[in-house]
Amino acid sequence: MNGDTRSFLSLASLPLPVKALFSAYLLTIGIGYLIAVLYLFLIDVEPHREMGMSVLQGTIHKYYGRRRDTRLEGMVRGSMGTYLTPAEKEQIFAWVESGATAEDFPKVKPVFDRDCIKCHSPTSGLNLIPLTKFEEVKRVTRKDLGESVKTLARVSHVHLFGISLIFLTTGLIFVLSSLRGLLKSIVVVIPFAAILMDIGSWWITKIKPVYAYTVIIGGALMGLSLAVQIFFSLYDMWLKKRALAGLKGNDT
Ligand code: HEC
Repeated sequence: MNGDTRSFLSLASLPLPVKALFSAYLLTIGIGYLIAVLYLFLIDVEPHREMGMSVLQGTIHKYYGRRRDTRLEGMVRGSMGTYLTPAEKEQIFAWVESGATAEDFPKVKPVFDRDCIKCHSPTSGLNLIPLTKFEEVKRVTRKDLGESVKTLARVSHVHLFGISLIFLTTGLIFVLSSLRGLLKSIVVVIPFAAILMDIGSWWITKIKPVYAYTVIIGGALMGLSLAVQIFFSLYDMWLKKRALAGLKGNDT
């Protein structure tokens, strides 16, 4: 009976008010999780899909960045390219590749003046980033290095604190279920391993983009293990007893 919580307490035998409390909590956490997934979809998945990226490419873009392209090059290759001739594009690329220096800026300034500032200037009334002088153009030639360390540190510690508390509480309920000791131990530990894998991979992806896979796997594993805990606990509280009673009824 070592490690078996059935011997002292089980979900099925809890008093009704406790079951009601646990169930309301688990359902609310479940709904919260679904809304978190929706938020992730709207903030990360959908905008990247509009840029023609898959979930994996979007994850890489978020954490690793797009180091081959600066924002300027990306736009010139993309939607802003329609305002430029191929020769003008080459001029801009050459300037960026040679370090986007102030000395060389006069060579490309006429291109921006001719093709861009009718929209990209404070007077255009379009509220777009201005491209009228060196400092303004320079700003869009910084490399996209993905999420900053500052942002990662903020989002990571909030998630680690918050999510581990959620898994502590869902786990405490789940350990009272009728599952066997070892299996139960695994199911309560997996979400913690998954969150460490997910968040740890955010940081590693910043250096090695291939770890975008473990970001996604960690996230999926976390959702899956939360779902298992919630469904199994609810099943044990409300349906298991009846199933058992039904069995006993058949026996006698
Ligand atoms: C007809 C108006 C118009 C012209 C001309 C134009 N742009 Fe734009 N530009 C926009 C609009 C609208 C956006 C924002 C929407 C988008 O991102 O597509 C934008 C966005 C950008 C961005 C992204 C800004 C950001 O915040 O990331 C860059 C860089 C850019 N343009 C560069 C250029 C360059 C270089 C030229 C000249 C070759 C140019 N644009 C010409 C309308 C214009």
